[in-house]
Amino acid sequence: MQVINTISDIRKSLQTVRLEGQSIGFVPTMGALHEGHISLIEQSVKDNDVTVCSIFVNPTQFNNAEDLEKYPRTLEGDIALLEAAKCDYIFAPDAKTMYPGENPLGFNFHPLDSVMEGKFRPGHFSGVGLVVNKLFNIVQPTRAYFGEKDFQQLAIIKKMVTDLNIPIEIVGCPISREANGLARSSRNRRLSEHAKNEIAPAINQALMSTAQTLRRQGSLEKARMAFENVMAKHPEMEVEYMEMVDAHTLEKVEKLKLGQRITVCVAAFLEGVRLIDNRSFNI
Ligand code: PAJ
Repeated sequence: MQVINTISDIRKSLQTVRLEGQSIGFVPTMGALHEGHISLIEQSVKDNDVTVCSIFVNPTQFNNAEDLEKYPRTLEGDIALLEAAKCDYIFAPDAKTMYPGENPLGFNFHPLDSVMEGKFRPGHFSGVGLVVNKLFNIVQPTRAYFGEKDFQQLAIIKKMVTDLNIPIEIVGCPISREANGLARSSRNRRLSEHAKNEIAPAINQALMSTAQTLRRQGSLEKARMAFENVMAKHPEMEVEYMEMVDAHTLEKVEKLKLGQRITVCVAAFLEGVRLIDNRSFNI
């Protein structure tokens, strides 16, 4: 495995791979890797001849300076995990390499970016669109892998690739969870053991209860009550939003349609850490 920091070096290495006719799988990340990221790497290693992982904490997608500063950075550990997972190249540029000057470019994914994460983190998806485009142009992969953990991000990347005719196959990968149901996240490292083991798993329990109520009782109101009942047992958590949306359009579900695929999405704060999770199911 090679660790590469400059755009010209990664381009040179991958040019050779491409000329040999080998497929390239790409997993963009912000580091602080855990089993969730590694499940994407493993899928890419299965599907492609060569796998590239980028590690870059992208400043343009943070709307909160403190969140950017506190984002965990664990490069040594990340390298060991990627080596064990048989990743071939790590692209780990610094901020000057990715953003040498001003960045006037912005992306608008309306209406996908005006709800949920987009609504509560203004500018976030513009920054994600910008950096993922830049990384796609640098790596030029055959396939790129994104987790359903960031459900709205996956939908936006799929839309971007279609709208801009980017010749890359986008592969969505299932959410990897701890045994207690907590969705794995780099941010979980910032939680106390008590919060991680006793409180945060309730987010998944609330999502499952919402899904079950919606499927059994067909009532959006009762489903919301089911969610609130679980969360009420854990007043340490502050829910920012809970939305029941169409899994394809991300539009709020106002009326249930038989056969519709629904995603319940949630963001909540615990010990000052912002956690997100979601569950999809058919009605
Ligand atoms: P990051 O949060 O590091 O996540 C990198 C990828 O790992 C994303 O596609 C995310 O959905 C996936 N992932 C994270 N936790 C997961 C889990 N528990 N199960 C499955 N997949 C999981 O998402 C970003 O970085 C950035 O926005 C990025 C796309 C790299 C652009 O900067």
